[in-house]
Amino acid sequence: MKLILLGPPGAGKGTQCKRIIEKYGVKHLSSGDILRGERAAGSELGEKAKEYMDSGQLVPDDLIIEMMIKAMTSEKSGYVLDGFPRTVVQGEALDKALNAAGEKIDGIVNLQVADEVIAPRMTGRRSCPKCGAVYHVENLKPAKEGECDKGCGPLVQRPDDKPDVVANRLKIYHEQTAAVVGYYQSVGGNIINIPAEGSPDEVTALVIAELDKI
Ligand code: AP5
Repeated sequence: MKLILLGPPGAGKGTQCKRIIEKYGVKHLSSGDILRGERAAGSELGEKAKEYMDSGQLVPDDLIIEMMIKAMTSEKSGYVLDGFPRTVVQGEALDKALNAAGEKIDGIVNLQVADEVIAPRMTGRRSCPKCGAVYHVENLKPAKEGECDKGCGPLVQRPDDKPDVVANRLKIYHEQTAAVVGYYQSVGGNIINIPAEGSPDEVTALVIAELDKI
């Protein structure tokens, strides 16, 4: 199964992806996680992406397209794309690459959450810099405050989860990324709209009920 997970920043894409990959045994390909890995490794791509990410801007399309097509190429058995495509240009490039490989996306899950619900989700998020696990100071607390449950050590707040950067990310989502849903409507993609303001478990139940039909 090949899926795309769309939704604004902080909608719960990463949280739901982790549950989808456990249930269906597909690979999680998160553009944000790959970029953070590149930064941690000190690569040239990571250095180029740093400034854009920390200010809430999108990293240029050409860098992202090359990075994600490369990641997908080695995953023949299935994946969930999280955070990609994020512009219509990226969507068109993805379709071109899939067509060339004779492949297709089975479903486009679109998590729908209002901005006023999202902002506190992001500012309260805490992440493990080692294993990538995601928590929330109120909604998804670790067993011991400030520590990863998997024994990795202290949790951190992502630099782009600071309130002023969050506001910029939401603005950019509405200006550049929301149009990706319209793009998939125009090319006849299988869009699955999920109201995603409930608890993580409630959202997972809605997502799984739809994916089981594919
Ligand atoms: P990226 O890492 O992709 O960030 P994002 O899309 O903004 O998404 P987030 O990771 O912030 O949120 P999420 O939807 O995964 O939510 P989560 O599950 O963590 O991208 C970061 C940056 O990289 C971008 O700004 C850009 O610079 C660059 N980039 C990446 N891809 C790019 C691309 N394609 N093109 C150009 N640039 C790109 O949940 C958030 C919090 O809420 C957590 O604390 C969680 O515990 C909590 N939560 C989750 N679900 C619920 C729920 N149902 N109820 C209550 N709380 C919940």
